[in-house]
Amino acid sequence: MTESHELAGKALLEWWGLAGVDLDDARAILRSAAAIPGPAAPRPSAPQPRPAAPTARPSAPADPALKAAADMARACSTIAELRRAVAAFEGCGLKAAARSTVFGDGIEGAPVLLIGEGPGKDEDEQGKPFVGRSGLLLDRMLGSIGLSRQSNVFISNVVYWRPPGNRPATQGELAACLPFVDRLIALAAPKILILAGGVAAQTVLRRQEGVTKLRGRRLVLDSKELTNPINALVMLHPAYLLRQPQQKRLAWADLLALAAWLEEIGVAPGQRL
Ligand code: URA
Repeated sequence: MTESHELAGKALLEWWGLAGVDLDDARAILRSAAAIPGPAAPRPSAPQPRPAAPTARPSAPADPALKAAADMARACSTIAELRRAVAAFEGCGLKAAARSTVFGDGIEGAPVLLIGEGPGKDEDEQGKPFVGRSGLLLDRMLGSIGLSRQSNVFISNVVYWRPPGNRPATQGELAACLPFVDRLIALAAPKILILAGGVAAQTVLRRQEGVTKLRGRRLVLDSKELTNPINALVMLHPAYLLRQPQQKRLAWADLLALAAWLEEIGVAPGQRL
């Protein structure tokens, strides 16, 4: 970051403070911007080299962070080991600005695994997924059909660190975490995998369709890393439902579809909350 960027950053922080913005968030954004090199100073008299013609690189070497993630994830044979591996992983840029690694909460090896989008402010502070407002709604939704993280659900996310200012995670950040997400699914081998929201659904299922196309349907996740194919159901994200409460009827339809599917495959409901 150049000196003028730094001054502009300070002025921006001051202005955000006056406007009542959460300054923890703002500082995290500026810290992560500081890691990005500023533009090189122009050298008007130097001859401008012609940009090199792009060369085709059909087999470009894999990103070392992705390879490290894949190696670390593959080496884990329990969910507890995977939790430690994620905490030790340094290949996702989100980690630098986050307070906590948010891996998961609930019963390891539960019949239901739920994967959401990523930690927010409350999750970052407490080190657990879905503990803020959307988490409370999620717990109530699951509780209405006899599911809870105390008895029969494990909850995680497609990224393990809070994106600064709650921006969406980038494709690179999602890709860096994905080997761990895939490994969690393989190790947990749930009877049903619930994907909360479009980002989790598209990332885990490797599908392009939006959440409105994918939600409420009986889907199957299969890959060579899985011993058996896994039943998957996409539902609307609780944070979306907080913003669009009129969509709760769709979420209710998804929950009923999920309850019917769980009953069919013999997953007993826990105590209804
Ligand atoms: N939203 C998510 O997708 N995950 C969390 O952990 C919290 C909010």
